[in-house]
Amino acid sequence: SLVSTAELVGTAREKDAAVFAFNVISLEHAEAVAAGAERADVSAVLQISENAVRYHGGRLRPLADAALGVIREARVPLALHLDHVTSVELLRAAPEAGFSSVMFDASKLPYEENVRVTAQAVEWAHARGVWLESELGRVGGKEGEPPLDAHAPGARTDPAEAAAYVGETGVDALAVAVGSSHAMTERSAALDHGLIGRLRDAVPVPLVLHGSSGVPEGELRAAVAAGMRKINVGTALNVAYTAAVRAALAAAPREVDPRRYTRPGRDAMAETVADYLRLLDGV
Ligand code: G3H
Ligand code: ZN
Repeated sequence: SLVSTAELVGTAREKDAAVFAFNVISLEHAEAVAAGAERADVSAVLQISENAVRYHGGRLRPLADAALGVIREARVPLALHLDHVTSVELLRAAPEAGFSSVMFDASKLPYEENVRVTAQAVEWAHARGVWLESELGRVGGKEGEPPLDAHAPGARTDPAEAAAYVGETGVDALAVAVGSSHAMTERSAALDHGLIGRLRDAVPVPLVLHGSSGVPEGELRAAVAAGMRKINVGTALNVAYTAAVRAALAAAPREVDPRRYTRPGRDAMAETVADYLRLLDGV
């Protein structure tokens, strides 16, 4: 069933727990997240990124509609979130397309600019009942960024600046840089748990961890204990999917029916989702 991201994060907050948000780039991803959530009997967020929308020709509806269809049929509550939005046009398309929340990403801009455009995004979103997440300090490694920016685990969000930023923008949740980096295919990131605790104490809204695929299990648990309330996972699903598809194709070099190799890929993603959801006390 469809619920809002605000509800899931709110429940996570009450329980000192966290909600997982998984990136969805195809129908198979949406089906896998729902199947994994049902298997673990834990709620989750399905998130579609601006990059994924771009992959689908810049059209938001086809994938959003597919994800919503899967969510409505699911036996656990799931939410739909629009992730890493830099385009104001895309932000504006979100509520009508069924998204209860958006991550508006102005993290590449200088502080004052980030505040200015994010405050405008928040004003627009709140007038339409949309929950808005943004980012301060830069979790590197996103698609399209120069290689030098990739894996920038050195970036850190300053707690005092974060407190001022949340006050000035009015965001509902804050993505922070605490040692993770996007698109890591190995779980080798070391998080700054002391900093997570200081950010939680300084900032009145829930904290979001991006680039969680690169974070080892113990580190993830510690991050939630220190105050992370939304945990974004993307690459780990693609690693599982691709390994399974590659194995299926290698085992059947004459196969031409995509279902024969995407099915194992989808199953592998569902198992990965269930493993993540069983890791924490879910919501
Ligand atoms: O917003 C999406 C997440 O930060 C995913 O990052 O692909 O490194 O797990 P990841
Ligand atoms: Zn991210």
